[in-house]
Amino acid sequence: MHELYTILAEYYDAIYQRRVERVKEEIDFVEEIFREDAEREIKRVLDLACGTGIPTLELARRGYEVIGLDLHEEMLRVARRKAEAQGLNVKFIQGNALDISFDEEFDAVTMFFSSIMYFDDSAIQELFNSVRQALKPGGIFIADFPCWFYGGNDGPIVWDERRGDERLVITDWREVEPAFQKLRFKRLVQIIRPNGETKAFFVDDELNIYTPREMRLLATRHFHEVKIYGNLRRSLAPNDRRYWLVAVK
Ligand SMILES: C[S@@+](CC[C@H](N)C(=O)[O-])C[C@H]1O[C@@H](n2cnc3c(N)ncnc32)[C@H](O)[C@@H]1O
Repeated sequence: MHELYTILAEYYDAIYQRRVERVKEEIDFVEEIFREDAEREIKRVLDLACGTGIPTLELARRGYEVIGLDLHEEMLRVARRKAEAQGLNVKFIQGNALDISFDEEFDAVTMFFSSIMYFDDSAIQELFNSVRQALKPGGIFIADFPCWFYGGNDGPIVWDERRGDERLVITDWREVEPAFQKLRFKRLVQIIRPNGETKAFFVDDELNIYTPREMRLLATRHFHEVKIYGNLRRSLAPNDRRYWLVAVK
């Protein structure tokens, strides 16, 4: 089920190369939220579902004291190697975001790049509880997630990337199950070596769809102030394709 984060972990940054290039802009926006919406100064950050550390390392580069946590050791291995190569001091720990037991230790908790979609209606309540417990009073939780309406049930999307001398051809299908608000996400990753040798991997994942209103209502049970923003802008517009949950303890 989690092929993308296990056997393909070494290829994750190459598959999402375009997102890697956007991460500075994303973290500029996150810092604006830290300044404008948090009710305390942000110094210590817990990045949940940190993956290979794309945003985690950008936060560390900007001087935050960051801990990254992820379910998959394969992703963390990549993250630790990148931190070492870039001379950044980040602690990466393996664990389930639902099992964390930090007690008011962080000024901010983040969960980037749709990771919150791994949590269904009951798991998301547990997640909000644990995040709230991990935050100091006035601390902030930030998570971004996509609008299901765009990209669901479209034909396959194909694109290519490079990793060293290997060429990657990635084919995505998304199927929305409206009644259950599930997104079936299927991906074929073909890795082509210069000599033509090709390896192929199939990803089959199930994600939970949330509308901005649902997310706000769910989070309101756990946080004293909850906002939903559009992408990289502190307001929401009718055709926004990505949302940012901002919740203050
Ligand atoms: C789409 S990736 C996002 C990675 C990273 N946040 C980023 O911005 O690139 C989703 C990540 O969620 C992690 N994940 C899924 N379920 C998790 C859980 N219950 N606890 C911790 N991490 C989880 C996966 O291992 C994967 O690294």
